[in-house]
Amino acid sequence: MVQDHSNGVKTTGAVVAPGLDATTALARSELKYRDLFNYMPLSMCQLDVSELVKILGTLRAQGIVDLHAHLDEHPELLAHMLQNMLIEQANEHTVKMFGGTDPAEFVGPIARFWQGSEDTMRRSLAARYAGAEAYAEETRLRTLDGRMIDVFYTSAFPKALSELGIGLVGMIDIGDRIRAERMLQQVQAEFAHAARVATLGELTASIAHEINQPLAAIATNAEASLRWLARPDPDVEEVRTLAARIVADARRAGDVISHIRAMATGHIVDHELVSLNGAVEDALGIIRGELRSHAVTVQFAAGADLAPVLADRTQIQRVLVNLALNAVQALADQPAAARRLTVRTGVDADGWARIDVEDNGPGIPEAYLARLFDSFFTTKDTGLGIGLSICRSIIEAHGGRISCDNLPGGGARFTIILPFGAESNSGASVTANHT
Ligand SMILES: Nc1ncnc2c1ncn2[C@@H]1O[C@H](COP(=O)(O)OP(=O)(O)OP(=O)(O)O)[C@@H](O)[C@H]1O
Ligand SMILES: [Mg+2]
Repeated sequence: MVQDHSNGVKTTGAVVAPGLDATTALARSELKYRDLFNYMPLSMCQLDVSELVKILGTLRAQGIVDLHAHLDEHPELLAHMLQNMLIEQANEHTVKMFGGTDPAEFVGPIARFWQGSEDTMRRSLAARYAGAEAYAEETRLRTLDGRMIDVFYTSAFPKALSELGIGLVGMIDIGDRIRAERMLQQVQAEFAHAARVATLGELTASIAHEINQPLAAIATNAEASLRWLARPDPDVEEVRTLAARIVADARRAGDVISHIRAMATGHIVDHELVSLNGAVEDALGIIRGELRSHAVTVQFAAGADLAPVLADRTQIQRVLVNLALNAVQALADQPAAARRLTVRTGVDADGWARIDVEDNGPGIPEAYLARLFDSFFTTKDTGLGIGLSICRSIIEAHGGRISCDNLPGGGARFTIILPFGAESNSGASVTANHT
């Protein structure tokens, strides 16, 4: 506010330019305000708040300090205030935003626009009462044609205007932004849902994949047991061995499920010191049936004095079983006598434990190499494309890496590297391997 002492005219916010008399300055200022008011691309309303100022003055005289608390006790007072804040002028943008045809339609109490959003006005009034210069909030207002629109509402209550009984309200339509935000939220929710469904899909596929082999082994061993039992002189020892295998396979199937559940729920599995050579032997034992029935010859080049790694034994076995089964499948088109699976263990150049699983099958087309470990990538009619993805998750969860390449003489090679456990790293056996 600026006081023009020459003639006592009080202007609001207008600075008198040198060389202009006060009346011209006021007229100019008035014009500027009118232009701003009418042509700003936001809704602006000038309110007659003289009645409101009186009500607030009365409350103050009564010693009311907390307007919020007072309105809690007298809810009808808020409605009364809304009826006594009168729109005097509305600009063109207000007409457009609030579905009107003429600014004159807006003249009157603000109450009808605030139905359902009285709380915003209550907070605005409380801010004014507490001495704030302005208040702003995102809210929803009712239009003349009954819609609810999202607006950024702001109201200024400088003392000079209040003294004149004038209130100023500005509103920006934020409908587009809110709609965009809602759409974004919806997309995010859908995305999260899709991710959950995808995880569920992978989980189901993993279980289906990993349970298949033990179930097939159980069936084979059970059938063999029945055959032995059907003989005139049943070989009890043989049946006992087969039954023990059935039990082991059933346990393994159960283990697989608990491990997949643990991985899906992000549980860290208990690691122990695992002999990699022992894990390879176990894995080859688990699929001895498949190796035999497909006439695959196995060579195991076990690294000497290999220190144990800190790992989950069952999971490492699963990786090896998956790689070996892939090799068996890849060898299907080779002459039976030539089918060879080779597993090597040792220490790589960087001092990591290393396992290679090699076959002399057709190898992997160059174009597939980058996608091999992706979930659901398969070139097989009956494949799920989940085996290698499981292998990668397990190896990476162990802090290792898995990769593949083609052997110079033909065939595929899968290489796993794993860090040695803290205990085994310091062990003499590792040092021996390094040299
Ligand atoms: N030893 C291999 N030789 C050649 N190609 C291989 C070999 N191992 C894997 N692949 C290729 O990698 C693909 C993905 O293997 P992955 O084990 O993930 O799935 P899959 O064997 O096709 O199906 P499943 O989910 O039943 O294991 C295979 O479809 C195959 O094309
Ligand atoms: Mg596979």
